[in-house]
Parts: sequence; structure tokens; C-alpha cells
Amino acid sequence: MVDPASHANVHIACIMDGNGRWAKRRGLPRTAGHTAGEENLAEVVRVCAQRGVGRLTVFGFSTENWVRPPAEVRHILSLHKKLFGRVDELNANNVRIQWIGRPFNEPGSRTPAYVQRAITQAIADTAGNTGMILTVAFDYGSRTELVRASRLSAQLGKVTETSIESHLYDSEMPRVDVVVRTSGESRISNFLLWQIAGAKVYFTERTWPDFNVQEIDAALKLIHAT
Ligand code: IPE
Ligand code: IPE
Ligand code: MG
Repeated sequence: MVDPASHANVHIACIMDGNGRWAKRRGLPRTAGHTAGEENLAEVVRVCAQRGVGRLTVFGFSTENWVRPPAEVRHILSLHKKLFGRVDELNANNVRIQWIGRPFNEPGSRTPAYVQRAITQAIADTAGNTGMILTVAFDYGSRTELVRASRLSAQLGKVTETSIESHLYDSEMPRVDVVVRTSGESRISNFLLWQIAGAKVYFTERTWPDFNVQEIDAALKLIHAT
């Protein structure tokens, strides 16, 4: 039995990759892989909350992903509406949901209003929860985040590690303890470049829809390995 208290300060960040390959192997359209991926995320959130994990941050959609075929992008957008709509489950698991990404009011923001509304509503509806913080990175790119943080710091006349940190999309986000990437790719793909300094890295061959409790425990174990 894992002692939940021992993971309270743990921050896991997942690059949820391989939905397309999961579907292809089954002779299904890529969209079916994304649907399965969103369902598995709900399960991973439940398991991590039960393990007493303090923070889970997931890469849902990158600034680079907008170039995918429009029908696939539309499907992924609708799945984010579904994900941010899982308020009952989040509340049942005492999970607070948050979002990082290009701010909606900034030039270049492409997030449709219905997804913006789902995000804002879910954040408000789970704000009172005191357990795990789930942060979804949507329309997120680390370089864009860092350029913005540097610019805002410079406007205040000071560029230091502390000033940059205070202008990241979530200035409260603690450093990541372990980065997970599924589907056999050993790259970071513009995810949390500042926040993962010093993190352990857990790469697995399993595609995201198959990422399971054994894998979560293996990633958690890596944090404490010397
Ligand atoms: C990850 O799965 C989901 C997103 C990037 C939105 P992919 O869609 O990248 O799946 P593969 O890499 O093509 O298998
Ligand atoms: C990274 O996956 C982005 C997300 C998981 C949302 P991609 O499949 O887009 O990454 P690359 O382009 O293969 O590195
Ligand atoms: Mg991919």
C-alpha cells in the first residue's frame, strides 16, 4: 500500500502521446484514439488523486498542433470541452482543475469561445477543492510562454530567474519531479522547458490510451530512485 502522504509534494507532468498510433493499430480513425486518450486521462487523474499526488500537469494540445487536419482539431477541441466538463468526477476526487496556455485575450489565441467557457467554468466549479491540482496545457508552447515571461519581466526593468518565474502562465506551479512521455518517443516537444529543469524523465513504449496504474507507480518510483 502506497502512503498517500508521501506524494503530496510530487508533481508529475505527462506528454500524452500516441493516440493516433493506438487507433491505427486497431484499424480505427485517429479521432477514436483521442477519445480513448481523454477517457484514459480521466482514469489517470482518479488514480493519481487516490495516490495522493499533489500535482498532475498534462499536455493536451500544443501551439504546434493547430496545423493538424481541421476535423481532427475539431474533435480534440470537443474532447477538451468534455474533459473540462467532468466537474462531478473532479469534485468527487477533490481535484482542482487549472489551465495553462496562450491567454485568450492575447494576439494569436485561437481557442474557440466554447472551449474558453468550458475552461473558465471548470476552474470556477472546482476552485474549492483541496486535493490534487490538475493542470491542462491547451494551446500551450513553452517557448511562447518564456518569450512572454521575459518580455513582461523586461518591461518591469528586471530580468532574473525570480522575475521570469513570476510571469509564467502559472507562477505558482512548482518544479516538475518527473516528466512522462508515452508512445516510445524520447523528446520533450516544447513542454514546460523551464519547469522541468532537474526533473526525472520516464519514457514508455505504451501509447497514452494504454498508460495505466503500473506505469504511474513506475514513474513515481523513479522520483525517489537515486
Ligand atoms: C497525442 O497523440 C495527442 C495530441 C498530440 C493532441 P497523437 O495524436 O500525437 O498520436 P500519434 O503520435 O500520432 O500516435
Ligand atoms: C506533443 O505531442 C503534444 C501533445 C501531447 C499535446 P506531438 O505528437 O504533437 O509531438 P511531436 O510533434 O511528435 O513531437
Ligand atoms: Mg504524437
